[in-house]
Amino acid sequence: MPLPRRVFLAGGLGGLALSPGVRGGGRRPDDEGAWAEVAAAWDPTPGKLNLESGGVQAPTRAVDQAFRRAWDAARRLPPVHLVREQLPRLEEVRSALAAAAGFPVEEVALVRNTTEALQNVLLGWPLARGDRVLTSTQDYWRLQEGLDQRAERDGIGIDRIRLPVPLPPSQEVVARWLEAVRPETRLALVCEVVNLTGQVLPVAALTAALQARGVAVVVDGAHGFAHLDSSPASLGADAYGTSLHKWLGAPFGTGMLRLRQDRLADVWPLFPSASRRRDDIRKFESLGTIAAAPFLGILPALDWWRQVGPAAKLARLRFLRDHWLATFADDPRVRLLTRVEERAAGAIATVALPGRDPRSVAEELRRERGIFVRAIVHPEFTGLRVAPNLHNSVADLDRFVAALRVCLRA
Ligand SMILES: Cc1ncc(COP(=O)(O)O)c(C=O)c1O
Repeated sequence: MPLPRRVFLAGGLGGLALSPGVRGGGRRPDDEGAWAEVAAAWDPTPGKLNLESGGVQAPTRAVDQAFRRAWDAARRLPPVHLVREQLPRLEEVRSALAAAAGFPVEEVALVRNTTEALQNVLLGWPLARGDRVLTSTQDYWRLQEGLDQRAERDGIGIDRIRLPVPLPPSQEVVARWLEAVRPETRLALVCEVVNLTGQVLPVAALTAALQARGVAVVVDGAHGFAHLDSSPASLGADAYGTSLHKWLGAPFGTGMLRLRQDRLADVWPLFPSASRRRDDIRKFESLGTIAAAPFLGILPALDWWRQVGPAAKLARLRFLRDHWLATFADDPRVRLLTRVEERAAGAIATVALPGRDPRSVAEELRRERGIFVRAIVHPEFTGLRVAPNLHNSVADLDRFVAALRVCLRA
């Protein structure tokens, strides 16, 4: 489902103006010239090749400038610029984000990352001793730790299903989750895009099927928002959390929590808030004094994403992914762990390197070639994760392929 064509609020803090030639998302995925204009929005470190957009991402220059302007104003006279001017503008940011994601504005909280968004939900959800939470062994480790703490403290049970690698077709994925539902299952934690492999789960179908069995669904959208071109609202989840310093390219330490209105009063915030705010999504923002500058940098990041075009962005990312994968198609030294058919992945792909430790390969690429990719070591598989971004080109991927070939020959 395409993103809602609502009006994003203009940057205000230096929203980036693309040249007319690259405006409006009309670039073909393989048009290197047009995408080079987009890539020029970043300031890469000379000699280094960043193919590690599977973690935290590099913000564009426009986002950086917006952040710095706000920070610089705030530091000069905090009572005026931070307290009176900037912090009230976070309501503008909330509205812009809600519009971009397709969520009602009163269901959107500004948080620092996915971890903060979803630990609030997982630790605050009303669960009694004996209730169970369903998740997978490939869900993010830090959120698993939240569930483990809850199990130790409150006596809830956790069921973790194993998902095959590469991921099977959608019906089989949904069936595996449903088989694991027990009468005591109250909540499910589901990853939209698995960070280990880049695999996109059929979350909308899964959510509907779980909710039909009385299981509420929390979606970890850390790698979904501003990467995939579907609206997170279309997933139908009870709660959704994402990090805006990932695919949106907003300043570090920015994230979004969406909690559906009908769930709001029941979920305890991690940081206490007055009981009169029980029904107010802002109860998840009771952190005390914070910097507004990172959050104000969300506005130009949203503006930039809209100008590039969500569908054009995803198509370009998939093109870059397929470009490097194609070069290893018949190479027995490289085995694809990510199912890429039927829109089952975006930019990220992970490959197993039979007989090789991906940690030493990643380390060699970094040390010898200045190339940054990520070694994935999971109890069920290991591999090399490659996550290109819009600041990368076909030439970058060719450089990586050549370097990996040399490593694999050794
Ligand atoms: C799938 C997934 N969930 C959650 C997180 C946590 O994100 P953050 O560290 O921004 O809170 C990550 C981080 O990489 C992730 O990949």
